[in-house]
Amino acid sequence: MASLQASCTVLSTNPRSHSSSSTQPLSAKPSHLFTNQRRIHRFQVSCDAKKNVETSQGKIDRRNMLLGLGGMYSAANLVSNPSAYADPVQAPDFTKCGDAYVKDVLLDVKCCPPLADKIIDYELPKFEVLRKRPAAHRATKEQVAKYEKAIQAMRDLDTSDPQDPRGFTQQANIHCAYCNGAHDQVGVDKVLDLQVHNSWLFFPFHRWYLYFYERILGKLINDPTFALPFWNWDNPKGMTLPPIFDKPRSPLYDAKRDPKNNGSAIVDLTFSGSTDPLQLVANNLSSIYSEMVRSVSTTTAFVGKPYCKGSDPSPGGGSSENGSHTGVHWWVGTKDTSGPNKFNEDMGNFYSAGRDPVFYCHHSNVDRMWHLWRDVVKNDIPKDITSPDYLNAEFLFYDEHKRLVRVKAGDCFDEKKLGYEYDRIDLPWLNYRPPSKAVKAKVENISDTKTAASVLPVNLKKTVRLIVPKSAKGKADEQLVLEDIQTDTTKFIKFDVFINDEDDKIEELDRAEYAGSFAQVPHKSKNKKGKATISLKLTDMYNDIDVSEDDTIVVTIVPRSNGEDVTIGGIKVIPVPKQAQSG
Ligand code: C2O
Repeated sequence: MASLQASCTVLSTNPRSHSSSSTQPLSAKPSHLFTNQRRIHRFQVSCDAKKNVETSQGKIDRRNMLLGLGGMYSAANLVSNPSAYADPVQAPDFTKCGDAYVKDVLLDVKCCPPLADKIIDYELPKFEVLRKRPAAHRATKEQVAKYEKAIQAMRDLDTSDPQDPRGFTQQANIHCAYCNGAHDQVGVDKVLDLQVHNSWLFFPFHRWYLYFYERILGKLINDPTFALPFWNWDNPKGMTLPPIFDKPRSPLYDAKRDPKNNGSAIVDLTFSGSTDPLQLVANNLSSIYSEMVRSVSTTTAFVGKPYCKGSDPSPGGGSSENGSHTGVHWWVGTKDTSGPNKFNEDMGNFYSAGRDPVFYCHHSNVDRMWHLWRDVVKNDIPKDITSPDYLNAEFLFYDEHKRLVRVKAGDCFDEKKLGYEYDRIDLPWLNYRPPSKAVKAKVENISDTKTAASVLPVNLKKTVRLIVPKSAKGKADEQLVLEDIQTDTTKFIKFDVFINDEDDKIEELDRAEYAGSFAQVPHKSKNKKGKATISLKLTDMYNDIDVSEDDTIVVTIVPRSNGEDVTIGGIKVIPVPKQAQSG
């Protein structure tokens, strides 16, 4: 069966010219710019038809732009299609790397990478033996010793050769540059941050980042079999800070962490604030089950929303990025911002997260969740997005030989081709479906309820409770869509969504009424953030809370962190598209 493609291609009748990126030098040649310029003419109209447009090639006359349209599309059509560039994001131009920001202040450090005189299109080596990534809490003495030795070697490069792109700080800066506004998008005619979070670039960017990081560590200790451990926070046995990161004299230690969260403290993936260890474990498993299985309706609901050349940053992360991924950043980073760690350093802000060695171990598990979603979770959702706008998105990294290489998102789906695999561990969340509700909720008992249409847009300063019409009666496959979610990107944001919830036990997520969550790690962007959308599948929940025959549901949105900085513009229930990558 043909599946719908998720993509930024809104103007699908437009012939797309993918310029061969493999020949793009560090600074584009005039001929290359010309090709781009024509494309910019055509699409720029979609964003702002009234003004002349500043480009790096000078002003483009509006009349020429309209001619470029060929009379095929009405301006009205185009205006409603803000991401109509319909081309993949290009690799950043390191020569144009600039300042990075945190809140409104310039960062005290520059996080731009060193320059190289050429870029090589990366070819994966053939790997005879797979590097087996172990769970950090089960790593053997020998594995830990190698890990410490490799990280120490990386740290030593900071002093012996600060310009070596394989050094610890240089590696941490990669994250800052791709996430806090240092790199701009290439080939677009306005200044747009290149942002690898909160969109479909999240998984492939971090997979490639970790791939090179692991190869570099292996090279520094002369052991090509070196494999990066993963923080197994999806299993109760791994739900503390892995002890190997908690020894002050170890190179794996970082002082800029929340001091409460060491020893046997259970990770709170859901910002629940519960102090009951059993409830924390139950919440963690419930939210992982939700973001991996129960609430996932489409490919982009898991992977993240389309983000192309010319897109505004942060159109919306996938369920796992928004969920446990963000929870770990929040939990590990400093919470007390009155002292020197004003921005939740290190893990609690994108600019500094890569300075904590546990970041890479955390992301190893994030990457593993992607692997598990593709290979273990069974459903009829297409597991990969096939749009060329996704597959051909490019990133630049330095490899273990200090060569600057270009990689594509679509070339990293199969981790065996990248030469690694994950140690197999039980997945206690995989069937963690909450028990059905014993008694059906009486909607009229849920007091204080207004219809969604009457109050939107709505701010989350306090809990919001709204009546939303279903799209159909009966056993329809439906999803709840929250759209135009606007947030202060410099703050930790988290809210949870419940359906027909009479009980108000908001610190408990292991209940049939829990529908899913949204969360975000602080970062600063030059641009206004794109308006995020999340979709939460309701089908299983309808059975578990017995609302199939109702016309409406009551949606409760509970802020967990900085609710006053969140506004939701739209709430609706729509059918789940069949076999769809997006929707
Ligand atoms: Cu690039 Cu967990 O962030």
